[in-house]
Amino acid sequence: MKAIIIGYGKMGREIEKILAERGHEVVLVVDADNSAELNAANLARADVAIEFTTPATACANIRTCLEHGTAVVSGTTGWTERLPEMQALCRQRGGAFFYASNYCLGVNLLFRLNRQLAAMIDRVGGYEVRIGETHHTQKKDAPSGTAITLAEGIIDNLSAKRSWVNYAPGVEQAAHRVASPAEVAPDQIEIDSRREGMVPGIHTVTYESEDDILELSHTIKNRRTLALGAVIAAEFLCGKRGVFGMDDLLQ
Ligand SMILES: NC(=O)c1ccc[n+]([C@@H]2O[C@H](COP(=O)([O-])OP(=O)(O)OC[C@H]3O[C@@H](n4cnc5c(N)ncnc54)[C@H](O)[C@@H]3O)[C@@H](O)[C@H]2O)c1
Repeated sequence: MKAIIIGYGKMGREIEKILAERGHEVVLVVDADNSAELNAANLARADVAIEFTTPATACANIRTCLEHGTAVVSGTTGWTERLPEMQALCRQRGGAFFYASNYCLGVNLLFRLNRQLAAMIDRVGGYEVRIGETHHTQKKDAPSGTAITLAEGIIDNLSAKRSWVNYAPGVEQAAHRVASPAEVAPDQIEIDSRREGMVPGIHTVTYESEDDILELSHTIKNRRTLALGAVIAAEFLCGKRGVFGMDDLLQ
């Protein structure tokens, strides 16, 4: 597989290592200072582009790949209100696009357990739910894309919940922010976002009744698992047309 890496930050560097380990060729690395090199001539040399940049740049990068007919895998978070637009562009162009808010296998198992647990709680009742996420201090967006996917899984299965809000003390760019947990309405899920040290990612879904606490929790130990998932997604995407996510890969 001939790959272009878009975004040579923490994830881009890890992806470069995994591509080499799995016998793939990196034909170009694009970062902020050479973003003009993401052009038709260079895209034509690659089977796939793997995009991990910033919330402000992801959409334009994905659009460029799709408009030039290059398959693209993206994991950038914090921009996904525009995901349907990119998926529609992919279908319109007959291209190939893979997106996941989290490429770790264990997190994707957590997504499934989370949906099943929410449906069970919906039947028994009596529990309040909240989500907690902790990441390193360089993470720009809040809540994490993973926490949003967890919240959406709960909203789809637990009839008492209709939306989520974010309590993110000390985080600059928080979506749907509330100033304190006391502002969370009964039909909203609180996502509590913390930014600490070098933490790659911890997510916890907590159900609490008057008598007990039930938790689903996942801790990422290193970025390698995320990069490996993205490279496996790229291998899966090559030669396909359409819009894909982790559920397609896991099947
Ligand atoms: N889906 C997942 O599994 C997953 C896992 C980890 C991180 N992420 C997300 O991926 C993104 C990147 O994470 P990171 O830890 O590598 O961040 P990072 O800040 O270490 O790296 C981002 C890189 O993108 C570069 N960049 C900025 N604008 C660009 C442009 N126009 N073209 C090309 N490159 C550009 C920056 O210079 C930087 O090197 C974030 O949104 C993060 O939340 C997702």
